[in-house]
Amino acid sequence: MSSEQKLWGGRFTEATDAFVEAFTASVEFDKRLAPFDIQGSIAHATMLESIGVLTDKECKAIVQGLENIREEIERGDFFWSVELEDVHMNVEARLTDRIGIAGKKLHTGRSRNDQVATDVRLYLRAEIDVIRQELARLQSALIDLAEREADTLMPGFTHLQVAQPISFGHHLLAWNEMLARDRERLADCRKRVNVMPLGSAALAGTSYPLDRALTARLLEFDRPSANSLDAVSDRDFAIEFAACASLILMHLSRFSEELILWSSAQFGFIDLPDKFCTGSSIMPQKKNPDVPELVRGKSGRVFGHLFALLTLMKSQPLAYNKDNQEDKEPLFDTVDTVKGCLRAFADMMPHLEPNRDAMREAAKRGFATATDLADYLVRKGVAFRDAHEIVGKAVRLGIDSRRDLAELELSELQQLSAVIEADVFDVLSLEGSVASRDIEGGTAPARVRQAAAAARQTLAG
Ligand code: ARG
Repeated sequence: MSSEQKLWGGRFTEATDAFVEAFTASVEFDKRLAPFDIQGSIAHATMLESIGVLTDKECKAIVQGLENIREEIERGDFFWSVELEDVHMNVEARLTDRIGIAGKKLHTGRSRNDQVATDVRLYLRAEIDVIRQELARLQSALIDLAEREADTLMPGFTHLQVAQPISFGHHLLAWNEMLARDRERLADCRKRVNVMPLGSAALAGTSYPLDRALTARLLEFDRPSANSLDAVSDRDFAIEFAACASLILMHLSRFSEELILWSSAQFGFIDLPDKFCTGSSIMPQKKNPDVPELVRGKSGRVFGHLFALLTLMKSQPLAYNKDNQEDKEPLFDTVDTVKGCLRAFADMMPHLEPNRDAMREAAKRGFATATDLADYLVRKGVAFRDAHEIVGKAVRLGIDSRRDLAELELSELQQLSAVIEADVFDVLSLEGSVASRDIEGGTAPARVRQAAAAARQTLAG
């Protein structure tokens, strides 16, 4: 394309080097912003008409033209030209093709700098809403499962060593808490996304008396931006989103790790649905937890995008710089990855099959009620440090004779401490132990059911 044919070709005498043209173009990836570019342009045109910059006829032609272009794009009939560099100039050039001179007036009082910032914000706002819904779908599945499994007992771990018995439902609700924070964080991030740059023009604002409040209203932005220099160069909102996304992936990666461990033969706590696993081409017995493994792996790329965006911005002088074009691929990939991972988890969760017997056995094997025995002794007047010592000896006895604490004889326990009576077996049972943690936020099944109900209410609210 010769320089006269470019939308910015006026001051140029030499055609752009073909490699440079391809190197600087963003249309291959920013074409995904087209629906938002069109939405922004329709609002801009409507506002221009309201202040008398466009006639009613011109405005109608622009709006109609843009809507036709939207359909062309949806149908896959739109020809994207690398020579036209980016989504903005592709759409604008096509508009002028279709409607003639009125198309050339659309860009009045606007620059691609405030246009692209607006498009990215509209895009991200829509995606945040989708991601928050996916989070809610996953949370809802977790809460249902937690309620159903409130009485299922399993070992709780610290240091991945059996610590105390807990309700499986309680464990599931711990995951829900993480996701609830993620959802809240995104709602907060959305507030800073939802500010409108249009009217900032290239960097300094514009001499046309644009009605920024009207454009903001039309696009459902909370307000126009307060400083034009900041508005065209700010990408904090994208970084903030990438940070929210990184936390989501960090959480999903932790779940994944547990699902992978739990579905192994060594744990055997759960069965993952066949349709979320694959086999091995050489080992016929294998059923691999591919989905959680892949999600765990994908956390790496999302963390990477956060760093890419931070680094992209760190040395930029005000205001817009071409560097900013590099915000899109990390941002888009972050959105796609988070959505994909959440979808996989939300689809998988309702099919998770707990193996209740295996969980119970594991809790019994690990002396998980040792703390309960210590607490019992304390209630009978033994100082906690002494109780700790006594229980340590009981555990030793259990290890040596391959028995659980509840399987020791009363007489054997009494040799360790004279205060022990027959009622000790109430606290040595898994049920007794779990039921005794009847405190807000604790693992007693009654509390778990309450917590599930509360979580469901928060989700609906
Ligand atoms: N494609 C550009 C971007 O993604 C649009 C803005 C370009 N502005 C400019 N003055 N070159 O950032």
